Amino acid sequence: MSVTSVMSGDPTIGIHDLSFATTQYVLTHATLAAENGTDIAKYHAGIGQRSMSVPAADEDIVTMAAAAAAPVIARHGAERIRTVVFATETSVDQAKAAGIHVHSLLGLPSATRVVELKQACYGATAALQFAIGLVHRDRSQQVLVIASDVSKYELGNPGEATQGAAAVAMLVSADPALVRIEDPSGVFTADIMDFWRPNYRTTALVDGQESISAYLQAVEGTWKDYTEQGGRALTEFSAFCYHQPFTKMAYKAHRHLTQQGGHDTDQAEIARCVGPTTTYNMDVGNSYTASVYLALASLLDHADDLTDQAVGFLSYGSGSVAEFFAGTVVPGYRSHLRSAMHREAVARREDIDYAQYRVLHEQAFPVDGGDHPLPRETTGPYRLAGISGHKRIYEPR
Ligand code: COA
Repeated sequence: MSVTSVMSGDPTIGIHDLSFATTQYVLTHATLAAENGTDIAKYHAGIGQRSMSVPAADEDIVTMAAAAAAPVIARHGAERIRTVVFATETSVDQAKAAGIHVHSLLGLPSATRVVELKQACYGATAALQFAIGLVHRDRSQQVLVIASDVSKYELGNPGEATQGAAAVAMLVSADPALVRIEDPSGVFTADIMDFWRPNYRTTALVDGQESISAYLQAVEGTWKDYTEQGGRALTEFSAFCYHQPFTKMAYKAHRHLTQQGGHDTDQAEIARCVGPTTTYNMDVGNSYTASVYLALASLLDHADDLTDQAVGFLSYGSGSVAEFFAGTVVPGYRSHLRSAMHREAVARREDIDYAQYRVLHEQAFPVDGGDHPLPRETTGPYRLAGISGHKRIYEPR
């Protein structure tokens, strides 16, 4: 085996297709700032956010996930998909995997395994790595990886301005059309209570400043391990996709990484490496597990030609687990992108005012086991029709 293949492992497994979906509604930070008296510059410049996706009453992680995955199935068929891995930290059930609802809505074959994964915002990266392992075992198979989340903090909490919602669907296969994922991975775990959500709560608890330092500590830890595992030098990367709880965090993380790597990188260079990854997250808000792959979608859709260039990924999940790994962009990738669909998913959202947002934020499903149909609000392809006998009922719209 050559030195190159040792470093990059089997270079022919990775992301074959990528599609994302978000919500019916959007709340702008201008509206939020006007309501709570915050200087809008804090939102726009301080945290780097312009608006947040807000689910309609009949949307949730399942409807977004099905909307994200449907175009992938339409393009590639489901014949080779034997596994669906659904990553989320805002699951709708403690036992049943949300991916089974998606499997049903998309009519996937019964000869499929479906499972849900959780570790805060890191879960989708674990799903991606598991998927790569499965494809290594049988290169004829494909794995559908879905990351879908709705981030929700209490009204008035500093985290409120970093809410958002989206789902990303990725088809993992041999000979991928978009990004080959390399073998060396830097991993890091630390037992920290920076962000968590006990089972009895619908909103997350967070120590915001602690979560920023925990994230930066994880950047150091993953990079150290990645280097020890024989990873690439920092200067070999053209761009970096970071988990973006708010887009300014990507800039903070990259500055920290370059300092760790012994480089004195200026603002312009940081903006060049990170800026193109932030376009969608800036308007969608924190989509937890989906965020780092929304960053990839943004990079592929907005950057100049990236053919054969190396992209670094830093996936962080509070609690905390993180991973740094690399991918290389495949020649011809541009003809497989869904850029117009992605821009439309963001642009088509309906602006809501603060009062509408508040009603949706406070919506809670009755727990009496009765019949509770939901209003028809979403214009997306799938909806949550209601809850009956404690069962969620989904339908194509
Ligand atoms: N104009 C421009 N910038 C301003 C500003 C103004 N008027 N007012 C504040 N800012 C800047 C601050 O300087 C700060 O930037 P810096 O960190 O680069 O110095 C930024 O805006 C945020 O201000 P801060 O006072 O720290 O905000 P906050 O107390 O509201 O908390 C979070 C911000 C991100 C910690 C909070 O939104 C949160 O808890 N989010 C959820 C958890 C999270 O996202 N964690 C990230 C790691 S997973």
